[in-house]
Amino acid sequence: MEIDFWLERWDKNEIGFHQQAVNPYLVYFYGTKGPAVEQRDRLKVFVPLCGKSKDMLWLSQSGYKVFGVECSERAVKDFFEENALNYRNAKKDEYALYQANGQTSLIEILQGDFFALQQTDLDDVTDIFDRASLVALPVELREKYANKMAELQKPGIRSLLVTLTYDQSEMNGPPFSVSEEDVNKLYSDNFTIEKLCFKDIIDDETGFKDRGLSSLVETVYKLVRK
Ligand SMILES: C[S@@+](CC[C@H](N)C(=O)[O-])C[C@H]1O[C@@H](n2cnc3c(N)ncnc32)[C@H](O)[C@@H]1O
Repeated sequence: MEIDFWLERWDKNEIGFHQQAVNPYLVYFYGTKGPAVEQRDRLKVFVPLCGKSKDMLWLSQSGYKVFGVECSERAVKDFFEENALNYRNAKKDEYALYQANGQTSLIEILQGDFFALQQTDLDDVTDIFDRASLVALPVELREKYANKMAELQKPGIRSLLVTLTYDQSEMNGPPFSVSEEDVNKLYSDNFTIEKLCFKDIIDDETGFKDRGLSSLVETVYKLVRK
């Protein structure tokens, strides 16, 4: 699933993955159970393959710095415009860098290819939120993605990883099914892995039921770069 596939999805507005609501696991682990509000501006959360996710707005409004990467210009502009955030943009290496500042704490989005990121791009990053990013990628890109994540991160960076697991013969991705075994294979060399919670959400996901799924388990992991 190459970048052109996603650019076409954005052009045709076929973005069923985009959620109007903020991810409840993010709110729980970075809100209710998260760091004290006064500590949050020291934390910068990287959102890989960020789309125009409302999660970034929530993070910013909750006091975190936010850094996203997304290949679609439309997605990035929509993020700022739909959320009524003033922004400026400038060229940065092979990326366009979009920044909002003022109304909220810092939000930066690099528009371009995730796989071209350098470790210095993640210099101040302390945390990562991966929802619909790993699972957006087909099997043949997963290892490249997990290896790139390891290459980019300094020891100690924490990730909240949300996966979906279902019978892949019942539906074609994306999103693709990622099992616990897959997560262990992809990340255990370079990360400690803690499974935080899981839930079968098929009854709340009528769209996936209509696509033929009988079960859809969402699992949340905490990864820490070794
Ligand atoms: C399934 S969507 C998820 C978006 C977001 N994480 C969310 O929760 O709404 C995957 C996103 O990754 C972007 N994407 C795919 N491949 C990419 C790449 N190589 N570099 C940057 N963005 C990419 C797509 O344009 C799309 O917006």
